[in-house]
Amino acid sequence: MTLPIYVQGAWYLGALLFIFGLKGMGSPASARKGIVIAGYGMLLAIAATFLIPGLQNLALMALALVVGGAVAWISGKKVKMTDMPQMVAIYNGMGGGAAAAIAAIEFAKGDAHSVVTTILAVLGALIGAVSFTGSCVAWAKLQGVLKKAHRLPAQNAVNVVLALVAVGLGAAMVVLAPAQPELIFGFFAIALVLGLIVTLPIGGADMPVVISLFNAFTGLAVGFEGYVLGNPALIIAGIVVGAAGTLLTQLMAKAMNRPLSNILFTPMVASGPGEAISGSMKEVGAIDAAAMMRYASKVIIVPGYGMAVAHAQHKVWEMTALLEEAGVEVKFAIHPVAGRMPGHMNVLLAEAGVPYDKIFDLEEINGEFGQADVALIIGANDVVNPTARTDKSSPIYGMPILNADMAQNVIVIKRGKGTGYSGVENALFYTDNCRMLYGDAQPMAGEIIQQLKAMG
Ligand code: TAP
Repeated sequence: MTLPIYVQGAWYLGALLFIFGLKGMGSPASARKGIVIAGYGMLLAIAATFLIPGLQNLALMALALVVGGAVAWISGKKVKMTDMPQMVAIYNGMGGGAAAAIAAIEFAKGDAHSVVTTILAVLGALIGAVSFTGSCVAWAKLQGVLKKAHRLPAQNAVNVVLALVAVGLGAAMVVLAPAQPELIFGFFAIALVLGLIVTLPIGGADMPVVISLFNAFTGLAVGFEGYVLGNPALIIAGIVVGAAGTLLTQLMAKAMNRPLSNILFTPMVASGPGEAISGSMKEVGAIDAAAMMRYASKVIIVPGYGMAVAHAQHKVWEMTALLEEAGVEVKFAIHPVAGRMPGHMNVLLAEAGVPYDKIFDLEEINGEFGQADVALIIGANDVVNPTARTDKSSPIYGMPILNADMAQNVIVIKRGKGTGYSGVENALFYTDNCRMLYGDAQPMAGEIIQQLKAMG
């Protein structure tokens, strides 16, 4: 069926808005505007769909929109910043599931399609179904519903066999098109189980990378199904999401210095007893910590996951402003995988009002730690662990880290002696120039503020 020009035109316009929106999301300064522009694109594409002549099931479509829209609106308003990765995971899974469902309906209808269209429908269905169940597992792990990684004996062999069976059934669906219902059911069942089996053994620490990979999968699946439906908005949006997800996955894997194959197929464990750590952890009080920074020339702040959990970003910014008033130069150093999702720290600092020109990436700032009087680490651990440079048996060996240990003095705000996400002990905390300020990041930053105010 040839669609009216106004529907096609609106879909292309919607796709253009997605692209402009994504461009806006490239910088924290324009990200909010970018997401609104992409939202308008989505609205336009959906509205245009309702204008297709002879469309059936309008009431069901409207109901799906109301239910989906309401759930997304409420959960989007309520979600905590620290729970954002699991929300992204579940929304992403819904996208993959929707793409697989489109394919399932097309197969069930049994309409004649060209071979190319059928191949794309099968590929989209396979990738979408894997992304759906895989993302559900990722959500359950990050939400704490699934606490352990479940590894089967000969896990990798099971993965390969399941993947081959799914591809074989998919090929049969292309050759025998229109496929029998039993074949369609078998194909979808195997594809859904594949997503579960591949994701269950992966540890929580690697989940953000896996979510990003499934995000790329969902994009591809949506793009393929867009081709099947002849919908340019779906094709373009799918390709944009697929490309962005792929780049983000590569970026995270690079920042953790682990090949993607290693993240997906090898559990993150130490390969030996690890380097012995000498020295002891030395405590400091808020008053001394405040004085060290108040009389410094240069302070570099390293925020991490703990700052996000404690919602300490506003207090940290207040503290920064007081230090700057006293003539101290303050910069923020952001590790690419600090926190639990890409850009986690940038978003929090932007929310607190920290100007973008005070925030620096690892490559930009790492050379400056040597000239800093104080490196203040707030709830960060793995991203400043120097054993990543030296201990070959460490699971974080090779991960580029922020050179906080090279500052004259290091102050670490954390609640106790807990390890970071990787579970590795941090040698930095035992060095001579490091002092521990024990406590929740928010009240501790508050105490430093009180002391700075008292010092005038
Ligand atoms: P982590 O290594 O996870 O360390 C966070 C530290 O914060 C902990 O040692 C904890 O110590 C402390 N903490 C927790 N709650 C706190 C609170 N309320 N107040 C003060 N401190 C608190 O964090 P990081 O340095 O940001 O590293 C991120 C980790 O996540 C890396 O291993 C990274 O590879 C992994 N990861 C990140 C991503 C992305 S994209 N960001 C993706 C995959 C994996 P206490 O318990 O003693 O307080």
